[in-house]
Amino acid sequence: MKQNLKSKKKRTLSQRQWLTRQINDPYVEAAKRQGYRSRAAFKLEQLDDKFHFLKKGGRVADLGAAPGGWTQVAVARVKAGEPGGGLVAGLDILPMDPVPNAEILLGDFLADGAEDRLKEALHGPCDVVLSDMAAPTTGHAPTDHLRIMHLAETALEFALGVLAPGGAFVAKLFQGGAEKILLDRMKTNFATVRHAKPQASRQDSKETYVVAMGFRGETKKA
Ligand SMILES: C[S@@+](CC[C@H](N)C(=O)[O-])C[C@H]1O[C@@H](n2cnc3c(N)ncnc32)[C@H](O)[C@@H]1O
Repeated sequence: MKQNLKSKKKRTLSQRQWLTRQINDPYVEAAKRQGYRSRAAFKLEQLDDKFHFLKKGGRVADLGAAPGGWTQVAVARVKAGEPGGGLVAGLDILPMDPVPNAEILLGDFLADGAEDRLKEALHGPCDVVLSDMAAPTTGHAPTDHLRIMHLAETALEFALGVLAPGGAFVAKLFQGGAEKILLDRMKTNFATVRHAKPQASRQDSKETYVVAMGFRGETKKA
């Protein structure tokens, strides 16, 4: 049954809508129960349940990691910190609490030096590059779309330079135009490229994910 806000505290309409949605969101409750930092953790779980890119021993770069839900899932699935387990390096422009058995870096992925810091933390090529990065929305849809596309394109270029052959790239996109160049570049460099909207991604959001697997190992032009 849908719950409504009880407190009389003054809030804007959008704050009230956000809070009402949070209260009624089963993934928010489940995240609390399972000790996940964010409901976003379920999106990565669902994507990996479908595509199986997180394997024991895998080395993972997690771009836009805060508050850490995806990092927690990646650590658990590659068994980082266990014998024969993998490695997870997360980066965010916002500070976040440490995640056990992951290396967390603070910085802007688009800034000089961020890619080198990540490569150093990964100690060599990696198997999976995840990007859940999203800049704060401006309310101007074309601007928001361009910003997220720029983040995804930069993440793809990083992935092409750091992935081991066979590796995977998973990125958040927003539905709506201007994706062809990015998708063509992925199709040239990966064996499979699939779009997916996990159940935990809100149906009213334009967010979607692209999952590229089977990196061919030699970067080719789009
Ligand atoms: C949707 S949240 C990620 C949620 C995360 N996957 C989780 O499971 O908790 C998007 C994140 O991208 C980060 N971000 C946006 N632009 C960035 C940039 N240029 N460099 C690093 N992080 C960035 C934001 O700070 C934000 O924490």
